[in-house]
Amino acid sequence: MRGHGGARCVYLLVLVLIATLVRASSHESNEHGYRPKWEEFENKQQTYDPMSSAYAALQAWKMAITNDPTGITETWVGYDVCSYKGVFCEQLNDSDPWSKVVAGIDVNHGNLSGTLVEELGYLKDLALFHINTNCFTGSLPQSFKFLTKLFELDVSNNRFYGYFPYVTLEMPSLIYLDIRFNRFYGPLPPQLFDKHLDALFLNNNEFDCQIPNNLGNSPVSVVVLANNKLNGELPRSISKMSKTLNEIVVLNNDINGILPPEVGQLDQVVLFDVSTNNLTGTLPETLQGLQSLEIFNVGDNQLRGNISQNICSLSHVTNLTFRDNYFTGEDRLCFEITYPPRDVIVDVSGNCIAGLGDQKPPSVCSAFLGSEFVSPASPPVYYYPSPPPPSPVYYYPSPPPPSPVYYYPSPPPPVYSPPPPPPPPPPVYSPPPPPTIYSPPPPPPVYSPPPPPPVYSPPPPVYSPPPPPPDYYSYPPPTYTGYHSTPHSPPPCE
Ligand SMILES: *[C@@H]1O[C@H](CO)[C@@H](O)[C@H](O)[C@H]1NC(C)=O
Ligand SMILES: *[C@@H]1O[C@H](CO)[C@@H](O)[C@H](O)[C@H]1NC(C)=O
Ligand SMILES: *[C@@H]1O[C@H](CO)[C@@H](O)[C@H](O)[C@H]1NC(C)=O
Ligand SMILES: *[C@@H]1O[C@H](CO)[C@@H](O)[C@H](O)[C@H]1NC(C)=O
Ligand SMILES: *[C@@H]1O[C@H](CO)[C@@H](O)[C@H](O)[C@H]1NC(C)=O
Repeated sequence: MRGHGGARCVYLLVLVLIATLVRASSHESNEHGYRPKWEEFENKQQTYDPMSSAYAALQAWKMAITNDPTGITETWVGYDVCSYKGVFCEQLNDSDPWSKVVAGIDVNHGNLSGTLVEELGYLKDLALFHINTNCFTGSLPQSFKFLTKLFELDVSNNRFYGYFPYVTLEMPSLIYLDIRFNRFYGPLPPQLFDKHLDALFLNNNEFDCQIPNNLGNSPVSVVVLANNKLNGELPRSISKMSKTLNEIVVLNNDINGILPPEVGQLDQVVLFDVSTNNLTGTLPETLQGLQSLEIFNVGDNQLRGNISQNICSLSHVTNLTFRDNYFTGEDRLCFEITYPPRDVIVDVSGNCIAGLGDQKPPSVCSAFLGSEFVSPASPPVYYYPSPPPPSPVYYYPSPPPPSPVYYYPSPPPPVYSPPPPPPPPPPVYSPPPPPTIYSPPPPPPVYSPPPPPPVYSPPPPVYSPPPPPPDYYSYPPPTYTGYHSTPHSPPPCE
């Protein structure tokens, strides 16, 4: 479907939509210069009136909001719901001011407490629902299944709890599902991986099942499962994600078994992180297939054997973490690439490599490895592929790495927020969800400046991060700031 950067395509798409929403919600820019009065709505006597439905939905929700320190819902007064803070309208028919609908809700970082209400299902034209970093509790309303146009759902960093919100499986247009940093638990429904999602964030919950075997059916470009209690093995169906998967993060779960050789087929993967699990065995020989790989982390498992040039010779790698395993050898190349011109970070500390510093105590190594473990007094255990590779040629196989997608400048923390000057906007993304009504492509200036928040100030940056922990995962900015467990600012609940 998309190749590299599917999530970013969505991202651009969303900016387009936001631009449209912003325009639509700006009264002055309404080409008719006025908004219909409520009495006019009544006179119109439509059988279905999206505005009165929206009014009912938002007033019901307002009643269920128990704390609103920043006064968002104080503006939720009167029938003109398009003037409510956090509510964004779209006029479906440019020549018909009656055709306005509520197309977006965005109260990210609003410090709101309370619950969601079933009446929100009245907002059947809603395309975006963003309530990240609030203190909402309970779960998602069953009526969300009526939100048939909703393509972006971000309820991350709240206090939602209970089983996985199954209602999301019934939302036909959903492509971005973000429920990270909540308290969901129990199993993950396999149907989740049959949905046509592009980005799936489940991290920092308490899901405690095996990863469903149909994981590989998922067309996501980004999947983050980190910091749950997932167990069992990594499904071999993962190979089926090779056309679409750019980032997969499973860190800090209880995954066991081997790293399946099928992983080597993920030639679009840029970030692969299965650290802090219970993986055993050796690294598969297939890893040389990870042709787009930049960041690789298998740290803190129970892997053994050699760290081979299969992975160290990949031309885009920047940071390889093997630490805290039971590896006994390292290909010479893995050491050489840590020097200029490559300057790749290669962390092999906490292993059992004889002759290197910063390794496990020999007793620990021989207890785990038995005779596989070489005496620590030996010289460094490099093993040379025959013949030892001539350096520079090795690093840059011709042609030099094109890497069209990942030229992020310095890491801006917010997840999915500032896109770099849009890479050749991949037109491949045929937008399934955003209804044709949002088609008017936006004035490009809207998403030109990289640090955007000020630009479209009304809605805070789309996909804005739950908490922005400034850790290494903020490197390729768009997608993975939020999943790292440590520096996580809690939602602003008292
Ligand atoms: C848009 O509104 C105009 C004026 O009410 C109407 O004539 C036209 O049919 C509408 N177009 C669509 C596509 O509904
Ligand atoms: C990890 O795997 C080892 C070896 O299979 C096993 O002994 C150990 O109990 C496992 N640890 C956890 C936390 O699952
Ligand atoms: C690691 O490489 C060394 C040197 O080539 C070799 O003797 C050893 O058998 C290898 N270990 C494994 C587990 O493949
Ligand atoms: C390299 O990756 C490791 C673990 O994935 C991370 O802790 C470290 O900060 C990264 N280094 C840089 C410079 O990004
Ligand atoms: C929300 O709450 C947090 C924590 O209490 C506080 O630091 C932040 O300033 C609040 N935000 C607003 C907009 O009031």
